[in-house]
Amino acid sequence: MTADSPTPASNSAPAPAAPAAQDGATPDSAPGPAAPADVAGGGRAAGPVSLAELERQAAERRDRPAYGKDALISCDRLVRIFTADGVEVQALQGLDLLVARGELMALVGASGSGKSTLLNILAGLDVPTAGAASVGGYDLLAMDAKARLRYRREVVGFIWQQTSRNLLPYLTAAQNVMLPMQLSGSGGLRHRRRRATRAADLLGMLGVAHCHDRHPGQMSGGEQQRAAIAVALANNPAVVLADEPTGELDSTTAEQVFGSFRTANEQLGTTVVVVTHDQSVADAVHRTVAIRDGRTASEVVRRTEIDEHGRESVVAREYATVDRAGRLQLPHDYTEALEIRRRVLLELQPDHITVRPDDHPPQD
Ligand SMILES: Nc1ncnc2c1ncn2[C@@H]1O[C@H](COP(=O)(O)OP(=O)(O)OP(=O)(O)O)[C@@H](O)[C@H]1O
Ligand SMILES: [Mg+2]
Repeated sequence: MTADSPTPASNSAPAPAAPAAQDGATPDSAPGPAAPADVAGGGRAAGPVSLAELERQAAERRDRPAYGKDALISCDRLVRIFTADGVEVQALQGLDLLVARGELMALVGASGSGKSTLLNILAGLDVPTAGAASVGGYDLLAMDAKARLRYRREVVGFIWQQTSRNLLPYLTAAQNVMLPMQLSGSGGLRHRRRRATRAADLLGMLGVAHCHDRHPGQMSGGEQQRAAIAVALANNPAVVLADEPTGELDSTTAEQVFGSFRTANEQLGTTVVVVTHDQSVADAVHRTVAIRDGRTASEVVRRTEIDEHGRESVVAREYATVDRAGRLQLPHDYTEALEIRRRVLLELQPDHITVRPDDHPPQD
């Protein structure tokens, strides 16, 4: 069932056995021909649709806001295919994702699900095979080398899992933070002072002021990661991306590092996207998006609610994502529990959709 499908004529009529994205066929997601208009009472209008009605439907489609219009990060049916030794690997298989400005969010998923592939594309380090992706107005598929360099210096900051990969070992923490500013800014004493002040401020804000004059070899793993966040923030990027930034750290240190991401998000308004296997990190963000087989599959959204006694509590809700073509991925444990294989029966109810196992499964 696609977003553009006509509403089934009656709730009791059996809905088409729609493929619930288990495997195989993917319906064309391009807007289809104008659907015949339903008439009041549930029946379908007999005879051809009037020209005026077709014009009205076309205008409605045209005026619909563009996908991801207000989002800072927009991925639209993103595909990345790697070819290694003649074998194709589809790391991203039509991934949709929108991230609003100012979000603090996590990406989770099994090993090999495509998290790093996505992050590398968003960082401007890799180019997708197909689809569309933009960050802060930059089209990630259409940037030339010059725009890509500017994008990587000024729009995104990146933090790797390996602490040793984030900082230059022969520079102090402060010099590491000043380097990206030097590369994108101009010279001169006044600028140099401003860079030095900003480096000291960022290190202070992230709780590693004491590492100002230390080389990475003289800092702990957690201190190095917090200094790396300061480096990533040096040019005041719109978004900071981090791939398993706490993967090499113990849980207490991981919490401190995550606290630095939160500080950047709250105090500077920086949008933060963190790939993590760490449940405590995933629990502490506004939204956790799960990636499965190269697509976004579900997300958990957390809201702070205040009860009638003024007590605050965080309420988490899990949603399955519906992609732009209307595809929904059923959780593996649900399909296993009901032995759902290739198709299901869908029934539209007044306020929900029922998904039932096929009562006449095809013989394999
Ligand atoms: N450069 C490459 N060449 C060939 N295949 C690749 C390449 N990079 C990634 N892949 C493949 O793409 C798929 C997704 O990989 P990716 O690194 O994005 O997974 P991940 O979700 O980050 O996993 P992990 O949690 O283990 O880091 C995997 O099957 C991987 O083997
Ligand atoms: Mg990875």
